[in-house]
Amino acid sequence: MKVIHTQPIAGQRPGTSGLRKKVTVFQQPHYLENFVQAIFDAVPALKGGTLVLGGDGRFYNRVAVQIILKMAAANGVAQVILGRGGILSTPAASSVIRKYAATGGIVLSASHNPGGADGDFGIKYNTDNGGPAAEKITEAIYQHTTRISQYQISDAADLDLDVLGSFSVAGMAVEIIDPVADYAVLMQDLFDFDAIRAWFAAGKRMQFDAMSAVAGPYAVEIIEGLLAAPCGTVVNGVPLEDFGGHHPDPNPAHATALIAAMSAANAPDFGAASDGDADRNMVLGRNFVVTPSDSLAVLAANATLVPGYRKGLVGVARSMPTSAAVDAVAKALGIACYETPTGWKFFGNLLDAGKVTLCGEESYGTGSDHVREKDGVWAVLFWLNLLAVTGKSVEEIITAHWARFGRHIYSRHDFEGIASESAEQLMAALRSQLPELVGQTLGGQEIHLADDFAYDDPVDGSHSAKQGVRIIFANGDRIIYRLSGTGTAGATLRVYLEKYQADVTQDGVEAQLALAGLIDISRELAKITAFTGMAQPTVVT
Ligand code: G6P
Ligand code: ZN
Repeated sequence: MKVIHTQPIAGQRPGTSGLRKKVTVFQQPHYLENFVQAIFDAVPALKGGTLVLGGDGRFYNRVAVQIILKMAAANGVAQVILGRGGILSTPAASSVIRKYAATGGIVLSASHNPGGADGDFGIKYNTDNGGPAAEKITEAIYQHTTRISQYQISDAADLDLDVLGSFSVAGMAVEIIDPVADYAVLMQDLFDFDAIRAWFAAGKRMQFDAMSAVAGPYAVEIIEGLLAAPCGTVVNGVPLEDFGGHHPDPNPAHATALIAAMSAANAPDFGAASDGDADRNMVLGRNFVVTPSDSLAVLAANATLVPGYRKGLVGVARSMPTSAAVDAVAKALGIACYETPTGWKFFGNLLDAGKVTLCGEESYGTGSDHVREKDGVWAVLFWLNLLAVTGKSVEEIITAHWARFGRHIYSRHDFEGIASESAEQLMAALRSQLPELVGQTLGGQEIHLADDFAYDDPVDGSHSAKQGVRIIFANGDRIIYRLSGTGTAGATLRVYLEKYQADVTQDGVEAQLALAGLIDISRELAKITAFTGMAQPTVVT
């Protein structure tokens, strides 16, 4: 074992979902090592404990795995459970932590951010519930990075990551597992695989775009293997270090090939995509895109059709910017609906305390209490299960849902690559207007509430302030503004727009048209063009 002297490197505070930086930043001497040592220092239980390790296979994944194995050995970790090839999707890592009662896990991913030598890399710590560490722990890790003076690393040789079995790194046990097997068992517990197999056998077709990211092996083994969907159902199914140049973010702006396939004359019945680490999902019908907020609401409304949720839901949760579509379902079901800040970690306490069964976010994340991460392949299987047992199309399921609950027309406009200072100024100017806004009329609607969202966790009482500016009109229309916490270059302003439409005869209206008035108000109120120089968003979802 070697003790290496180092010094603090600025900027290692984890964001919405771990520490994410350019690969070139991680490649700096001691950068990864400092952060990993800070994890071991902040979580003493790892000494003598079991650590789950894996990532989405992006560039630098294998290098990081070798470093972490050697540092884990030197820091007294008893056992590492590692996905073969250094691969574990984020939800699979969560399920493995839970299944083997590990102390925690290190997940290597920058999620939906592009990969490759010039792309992004990321690392985050998950606790023994399988979920992202709460802010108390990420903050402790950060504090250690600001004081670090040395790290421990073994001088053992590199381990062959591609062979299953039991190994040793400097006396530490390493179990290399099949990254898909445990996860596939869990999915079979939750979903009606026979019904889905029959749906495929009857000639229904699907396209799953794994975007050359980590969902590939999971989708191939489960959908083409266990569910016997025709070969070729999964496209871009081999994970590549640079995701084949794709931007592995499953939304209409980035999954353009899937959108095109689903609007072609011979489109399959069902389309789906997931992101770099397979925790996000987008679902589509023929010529029909489902918004993530609607998807969550549909899963909640139909949960009892699925074996794993047959007993019903105890409650649901959504992030604040996510539309209130699921609120309407919760109301009808007579169950609680929680509104949390953006970031999956906020769902962890609610899930652990048994207060919610399903949760989701507008950012293409949906999940349940089966793990403590959002889960892309799970969401796709949930939809397949619904399609199989109802015999309906995606569009029929959604329009029936709107007819019952009304439609929450929704869109998100992102303004990317803003200078951080300008973005902060924009938000500050917006916040300073808040006290005068209530009672004012804009676009013919009175503003009912104008505040900066704050959250008091009902389980541990922790308080999270400044989680996004909310402008809510008397008719329920909403405009939300917040700065992204996951970018690695400059700032991204996200503007979330929502309008409730009870009148089902209006259901087919295109979202951008229906939201045009709100969009104009959102631009003027925040003086977006003046602060950013941008007249139009860079991404619309
Ligand atoms: C990650 C997190 C999500 C979050 C999303 C967007 O995927 O796991 O919980 O909603 O990023 O975060 P951002 O701060 O970029 O809006
Ligand atoms: Zn992700």
